[in-house]
Amino acid sequence: MAGALKFPDNFLWGTATSPTQVEGHVANEWTDYVAPDGGHCRVACNHYHRYAEDVDWMAELGVNAYRLGIEWSRLQAAPFAPLNRQELERYVDLLDRLKAAGITPMVVLHHFSNPLWITSAGGWLNPATVPAFVDYVTKLVTALKERVGLWNTFNEPDTYASLTYLLGGFPPFRKWRLLSYRKTIQHMAEAHVRVGEVIRRAGHGGRTPEIGIAKNWTFFGPFERHALWDHLLAAISHHAFNGYVLDAFLGGPRRAASTFLGVNYYGLARFKNFEPMVPAGGACRKRLARLGVVCDDMFERHPGGLGIILKNFHRRYGLPLYITEHGAASSDEDFRIRDLTEHLHELHGAVKGGVDVRGFFYWSLLDNFEWQFGYSKKFGLLAVDFTDEKLPRKMTRVGEFYRGICRAGAAVAPQKSSVAIR
Ligand code: BGC
Repeated sequence: MAGALKFPDNFLWGTATSPTQVEGHVANEWTDYVAPDGGHCRVACNHYHRYAEDVDWMAELGVNAYRLGIEWSRLQAAPFAPLNRQELERYVDLLDRLKAAGITPMVVLHHFSNPLWITSAGGWLNPATVPAFVDYVTKLVTALKERVGLWNTFNEPDTYASLTYLLGGFPPFRKWRLLSYRKTIQHMAEAHVRVGEVIRRAGHGGRTPEIGIAKNWTFFGPFERHALWDHLLAAISHHAFNGYVLDAFLGGPRRAASTFLGVNYYGLARFKNFEPMVPAGGACRKRLARLGVVCDDMFERHPGGLGIILKNFHRRYGLPLYITEHGAASSDEDFRIRDLTEHLHELHGAVKGGVDVRGFFYWSLLDNFEWQFGYSKKFGLLAVDFTDEKLPRKMTRVGEFYRGICRAGAAVAPQKSSVAIR
């Protein structure tokens, strides 16, 4: 490959999904939610019935890793209940198919969803959720330890807690409940430490299991350099979303509970007179384009930030890192290809500079249910036609491009920095 940026031979080139977003047929707090575009998760991509076909698609993509969630609400009907055998067998079958296809699984234990009996008891505000979760994970790890070595305990506790209790985007749609936000983070951090011990004790077919959270890293800043109030808002957001959360999970002796740190990286949110200048925050795309903001359908892009944050995490925590999510939502495939190229360029620079990054998981395998936004955000390596009840999958050009990268174990150098903003 011309201009190839070679990655280490054992690097994981993966893709990722989460149960509520792709499986369908779930009964959790999202089941009755209907997004403004009319979308709901009741069928989603029907991955629940079609996971075998989706594993074939992954083989076609040439990925050697898959970050998947296991849905707690499917497996336990009540606190401390035994796991549902039939549902467990389905996940075991999925894991066996992945193994047969040479695809390493990374299992996410909590990705924004809870059983209804947890929700009705107060969710993660209730301290009793912690032992209930530890019990669930103990049973799950006992069942799957021969098949899974990479355990991602919590996906983006920051996003979950902020959208649930500060920004009103996730059920139960509360706003500005700072104490609830903090309590949720603290309970999740405690659960992370406790399930980490469970996983460690269980072992993993003689090898040491890997344990970590996936931290969403968003850069915050002012849109105008001299707007002091926007500087202040950015600093407060950074503290609440990044600093406070990292400290809860990785500060002091808690650092020892993790063997890796997952990084979900999408970009940047800048404030203009307190307004977040990102499509995900409701800013109008045309206005953003006029102001020169380069973004996908969610966030402002900042490829250079990926290198910065990887080096920073490496220095601060000394833990191996995975990019547990990166991707772009857009119907402009050239944009998505450019975006991927520029981020992999940054990633390659970090690896070459000695940062121990062990894998990259493209978000997402499939176009899927994007939580409060329904089906309007197109992140898939495979496009899904949601207007056809057969939900056909189709390889995208981004998927083909990523296949070339996975097969070569190498990215390509960007032509010129066309997406980078600073
Ligand atoms: C989440 C995914 C989500 C993606 C794109 C991440 O914050 O983990 O569930 O679909 O970003 O918004």
